[in-house]
Amino acid sequence: MNLQDLYRHVILDHSQRPRNRHALANALAVRLLNPTCGDEVTLYLTVEQGVVADASFEGVGCSISIASASMLTEAVRGLPLSEALVLSRAFRRLVQGEDADVTKLGDLEALSGVRQFPARIKCALLAWNALEQGIRGEPDEP
Ligand code: FES
Ligand code: FES
Repeated sequence: MNLQDLYRHVILDHSQRPRNRHALANALAVRLLNPTCGDEVTLYLTVEQGVVADASFEGVGCSISIASASMLTEAVRGLPLSEALVLSRAFRRLVQGEDADVTKLGDLEALSGVRQFPARIKCALLAWNALEQGIRGEPDEP
């Protein structure tokens, strides 16, 4: 299996069997729309003493956006908020085709291929935009 096949396999796995796709009670919730396509994702976070205790998501979207949200919920659990932001920035750089520290990205590297498709970059970043907005404590979109 070459790297591209492996990446495709990871994306397919997370889009067909998304992890943590449910609402979370008593959580910080941020709902964001991708204006290009009308898809939306709601990200739920519970934070205990500055650490992400739990993360989940709901929403509709293409396989890229669902896979990205699914991987996000796995990647940020247990991280201090500051490290979740560092991870988010590294992922953003990766999918935008900039130099990124991939050492902490793990499975998320599977989404690196979207850098060639500007519309797909928005799909991959939807849940991450919600994460960053939630961490900054900005209000939800109406
Ligand atoms: Fe996501 Fe076109 S807007 S694939
Ligand atoms: Fe809508 Fe990808 S096409 S989020």
